[in-house]
Amino acid sequence: LRSIDLAVIPGDGIGPEVTAEAVKVLRAVAGDDVRLTLTEYTLGAQHWLETGETLSDETLGKLRGHDAILFGAVGAAPGDTRIPSGLIEREFLLKLRFSLDHFVNLRPSRLYPGVPSPLAAPGVIDFIVVREGTEGPYTGNGGTLRGGTPHEVATEVSLNTAFGVERAVRDAFTRASARRRKLTLVHKHNVLVYAGHLWKRTVEAVAAEFPDVSHDYLHVDAAMIFLVTDPSRFDVIVTDNLFGDIVTDLAAAVSGGIGLAASANLNMERTAPSMFEPVHGSAPDIAGRQIADPTAAILSAALLLRHLGLDEHAARIEQAVEEDISSRTTDRRTAAVGDAIAAAVS
Ligand code: NAD
Ligand code: IPM
Ligand code: MN
Repeated sequence: LRSIDLAVIPGDGIGPEVTAEAVKVLRAVAGDDVRLTLTEYTLGAQHWLETGETLSDETLGKLRGHDAILFGAVGAAPGDTRIPSGLIEREFLLKLRFSLDHFVNLRPSRLYPGVPSPLAAPGVIDFIVVREGTEGPYTGNGGTLRGGTPHEVATEVSLNTAFGVERAVRDAFTRASARRRKLTLVHKHNVLVYAGHLWKRTVEAVAAEFPDVSHDYLHVDAAMIFLVTDPSRFDVIVTDNLFGDIVTDLAAAVSGGIGLAASANLNMERTAPSMFEPVHGSAPDIAGRQIADPTAAILSAALLLRHLGLDEHAARIEQAVEEDISSRTTDRRTAAVGDAIAAAVS
């Protein structure tokens, strides 16, 4: 009997709604062959309002003790002035990704059969984005001078280390060699010359270890054209933290919508638990109404199982999702989607 010990962080907005369905499906697929222990952590914008905690060292220490983390979403509504913009994102979510060294942010995009795409001719869409997860402009390595004056200067420095870039690029090549063996580096080395060239040189160097994988390069602006006009050209995209954030929302939009887009924040050295979450946020505009699609959260749970070596259980969820979404006729409530998928995997 395999035991897995998970932390569950439902978060804010639709986070708790979609996470409940992911947990439902996990319990169903675990059945009698996996002993599942779940510990729920209340964190996020609402929790900060109530307690002043974003993510304490004590909570972080507890989270470290689990095999993996299932996460919903955090974030305040845009008009909520009680919560400083970026506070929860930076002090909770990015702190988690950085502290637990989630250097691979894996975001698969697949257009399932029968799922409408906004593209007239989507073709086969089946690629993954390996988004570097611990560096880039996300490190908070910036500042402001003469704040509030007409001479204010604001900087956000993009941090890129040879170590950080290489481990993301090597992971992407490794994944490519197990897929259709094609890697595309997306960057902007015509403008971001220092970081861009580091990424490009790193791809060239690592490519030598993967002679079976072909690779090419696209500037991020052109890559966005191809994502819309010819998404089937992509197999594995590797890119930095900020480009990866933007690319994966468009990738979600062309492959069935943000409600289907799953992600994994992976510590591939397994020195800390990895974290699995939908690409979307807390969606304050639809929260509390049971209309959010929990599929992204459910597919993130499948990525979790695969990371823990439970491939067959993960595949069962993916299969059930594929059948469920290809036969969707009416909009169902959040819980009804979870019920259907849970029934199919048990
Ligand atoms: P969002 O992803 O929350 O919402 C964008 C749009 O997509 C909204 O119209 C929303 O209703 C829709 N949407 C999102 N998920 C959906 C689902 N499962 N089913 C149906 N529709 C869905 O992005 P946003 O509005 O830019 O951000 C809202 C808050 O979430 C912000 O505070 C932001 O910082 C935060 N955020 C958090 C995460 C995270 O926790 N990982 C990710 C992105 C944004
Ligand atoms: C995501 C989100 C986060 C990111 C924010 C909320 C910090 O947009 O997970 O895609 O930019 O990584
Ligand atoms: Mn994002």
